[in-house]
Amino acid sequence: MTVQSGSSQPPQTGGSVFPTTRLRRLRQSPTLRRLVRETTLSPADFIYPLFVTHGQGVRNEVPSMPGVYQLSVDMLAEEAQEVASLGIPAVILFGLPAAKDPVGEENFADNGIVQQAIRAIRQAVPEMVIITDVCMCEYTDHGHCGIVHEGRILNDPSIEILGKVAVSHARAGADIPAPSAMMDGQVAAIRRALDEAGFADTPIMGYSAKFASAFYGPFRDAADSPPQFGDRSTYQMDPANAREAMREIELDIAEGADIIMVKPALPYLDIIRMARDRFPGLPLAAYNVSGEYSMLKAAARLGWLDEKRVALESLTAIKRAGADMILTYWAKDAARWLQE
Ligand code: PBG
Repeated sequence: MTVQSGSSQPPQTGGSVFPTTRLRRLRQSPTLRRLVRETTLSPADFIYPLFVTHGQGVRNEVPSMPGVYQLSVDMLAEEAQEVASLGIPAVILFGLPAAKDPVGEENFADNGIVQQAIRAIRQAVPEMVIITDVCMCEYTDHGHCGIVHEGRILNDPSIEILGKVAVSHARAGADIPAPSAMMDGQVAAIRRALDEAGFADTPIMGYSAKFASAFYGPFRDAADSPPQFGDRSTYQMDPANAREAMREIELDIAEGADIIMVKPALPYLDIIRMARDRFPGLPLAAYNVSGEYSMLKAAARLGWLDEKRVALESLTAIKRAGADMILTYWAKDAARWLQE
């Protein structure tokens, strides 16, 4: 049915058309607009990413991500307290190891950088939800998210290692391992490893639909994790595929994921909406990735965009599309802006 002007069919239920219907009536004041607002942001929606590095007193700003720092473990207590005081419930940790090797030994070492960071944050802010990125690219000398053999990224040996990493994080006190390697069966392997190690109550956040995106560029500076040959398109998803994203999510749920994720966020709002509609029963996270942050930061620095407004608009759009929680480098700033 098409609605034509002057047609006897009104375009919406319960009313008639102009001049009886005037949508501007409810836009007349900030309070009235607040009353009818459909989507609201809260600091409780945010997960703040932290990059942890060896050393003492280290606070290195990431050149392509102004306002984002690589921090040493001794800097984390203060950082975690600040995050908590802003009402942000969770952090996600990324580690920069002392040395890289083909397997990434430090990834599952008791005294690895992330394991140390978990203990420091747990001590400083016991109630903080500590999520850990479970992947291999920061730890391996080849920079891929799995084991490499003759130029190929092997699946099944990689998921065994991811299971060891998740258990090692849980032992150090992490709350939620979040596998981001996009290996088939990674959630099942981690679930099995956690259960066998006595962590049956530890939930898993799957980076379920993670696309092979150029928007991760600045993150690879922050985490020193670019692949040394080729790219990630044999494991991360083709940006052109939406139906396949639903299959990825469906499989993560079947394998035992407790929270699902779409990543990146802004260029993939359609995927977030599809996931929300298709899988109403699970909490849905979206990762507002490094490139989404850096491009707005850069434009704001040039005076071309108002950072606060574009950031809050972006985060609202991600939530409106259906995300329950957002991993974002703006978490602290946005929490402050929301209090103003
Ligand atoms: C690790 C990982 C990446 C991101 C999160 N976990 C990088 C990648 O897959 O290359 C990207 C996060 C961001 O860009 O902010 N695999």
